[in-house]
Amino acid sequence: MTPTLIDGKEVAASVRSKLQQEIDELKAQGHIPGLAVVLVGEDPASQVYVGSKVKACEELGIYSQKWTLPAETTQEELVQLIHQLNADERIHGILVQSPPPPHIDEEAVILNIDPRKDVDGFHPANVARLVLEDAEGFVPCTPLGCMELLKAYGIETAGKHAVVIGRSMIVGKPMANLLVAKNANATVTIAHSRTRDLPGLCRTADIIVAAVGRPEMVTAEYVKDGAVVLDVGINRIADETRPRGYRIVGDVDFEAVKDKCSYITPVPGGVGPMTIAMLIANTVKACRQLTR
Ligand code: GUN
Repeated sequence: MTPTLIDGKEVAASVRSKLQQEIDELKAQGHIPGLAVVLVGEDPASQVYVGSKVKACEELGIYSQKWTLPAETTQEELVQLIHQLNADERIHGILVQSPPPPHIDEEAVILNIDPRKDVDGFHPANVARLVLEDAEGFVPCTPLGCMELLKAYGIETAGKHAVVIGRSMIVGKPMANLLVAKNANATVTIAHSRTRDLPGLCRTADIIVAAVGRPEMVTAEYVKDGAVVLDVGINRIADETRPRGYRIVGDVDFEAVKDKCSYITPVPGGVGPMTIAMLIANTVKACRQLTR
């Protein structure tokens, strides 16, 4: 089968151009959406992600604050900053880049974010709204981006069996909730490290979402002919032939799998570009909801 490559860059560009119109409308009404991005520590990958998020704000003409805090920042200092951002009327979205250094209790920090500004959708109030299918809530950006890709390519989810590999709060669990919701109507299995016969289970899937963070784990034996494969993985693996000494691969062995798929996302250029587009979408939504 010749697969259709899902072009995340193209879909993200189209989402962004729609957002640009909404941003211009909000500005005409006197509201400039604002996003605060907080990074604690010097993790190189996180630095790149945070930089890209702020750059996207600049490109779309929305207000942003980038807070780069030293690795020794205490929990109390971080929480104090969150409270300051909760009270800042220029800020509609607050994002603390994950993972923070080990001495920070991430869940406790998230509890301090005003749920109305929680554009990551990590606060328990927003997790509940997702499960309740309440459209006012915020959904984590990466699974939201995956749903947008399915929509953009007209991929049917109703009645389909989706296997989500990974049970993280950032991707796996929200992805499963989105797919099972009444506007998607998939039958969903969440698989994880203790799942028995994962390849066999995945071979029953019409849609596979790989979100485990294990380089090229999903091989041809996981995929039935005609399946749709969304690869959320962004893994650095050593590669001396590259100037940086590494290359980025997904959780899917793309070359081994692609000819079995009806649709597949490449890495990079698949799910990745969608995450930032959806972050801006959530920030614009927060601005609308906070200013109406
Ligand atoms: N780290 C990896 N993905 C994400 C994300 O979507 N949001 C935050 N805050 N941190 C992340």
